[in-house]
Amino acid sequence: MSAVKSSFPVRRQDFEFDEVPRHWVANDPFMTHVFNALSALFPDGERFFVASVRAVREKIEDPQLQKDIGAFIGQEAMHAKEHGNFNAGAIKEGFDIPKLEGWTRKFLSVADLPIFKNDKTHLAVTVALEHFTGILSAQLLKREDMVELIDPSMRNLWAWHCVEENEHKAVAFDTFEKIYGKDIASYALRMGIMVLATTLIMVAIHAFIVELMREDKQLGNIKSWVKGLNTLWGRHGMFSAIIPEYLDYFKPSFHPWDHDTNFLLQRWRKKTGLTA
Ligand SMILES: [Fe+2]
Ligand SMILES: [Fe+2]
Repeated sequence: MSAVKSSFPVRRQDFEFDEVPRHWVANDPFMTHVFNALSALFPDGERFFVASVRAVREKIEDPQLQKDIGAFIGQEAMHAKEHGNFNAGAIKEGFDIPKLEGWTRKFLSVADLPIFKNDKTHLAVTVALEHFTGILSAQLLKREDMVELIDPSMRNLWAWHCVEENEHKAVAFDTFEKIYGKDIASYALRMGIMVLATTLIMVAIHAFIVELMREDKQLGNIKSWVKGLNTLWGRHGMFSAIIPEYLDYFKPSFHPWDHDTNFLLQRWRKKTGLTA
């Protein structure tokens, strides 16, 4: 038996969603639907990530990376399960999140177009979106003021997910570089896919928010729109603040651990009682 252990654990979770209020972020429809939109993207998105890494796993000989791939798959499968459970329950509140999960599958079906349908491109999609989720999660963990806006019934789910995104943020990247190297063709593919994938994800997030605001009969709630858009895109906004880290991805020498988030992991594991 191999003595190598994965660098991070897979934690089994089983959250309860019965007590989640209708507007569970800042008592505000727009901000709630930002997080609902992300949750609608996760189950199928994360299953795609898992499939793309699993497809090439046998090519990895490094025992440490093999173990970390196993833990990455375990973590993402658990995220997909928990967000899927939340999404199913959100119907009770009158929001059709499963419909948005269907839209997510439509967005993901772009990856089935003949020019994109190969292991290398699918893995490049995962590497790109893992960078995006990693920096967005780190942003949330840094911004305690934002975490405070999340209702206590949902806070541990998000803290757990954000911690794990940062624990495994380099696994897909390392897998890609081990198999496909750093040559100009691989680099160009990663860059092109990053632009395409983040454009699509931004369109998806904002389309989902509009749809959820419509279902919530809040399209005319100007106050919520203005405040929410400012929280996302204003100075120090949730999305605007990650632009510099997003752009770091385009440096040829970039590696996800160039952004050292270990201090956040230590702080949040302690805060939420997660094992290391
Ligand atoms: Fe995840
Ligand atoms: Fe991830």
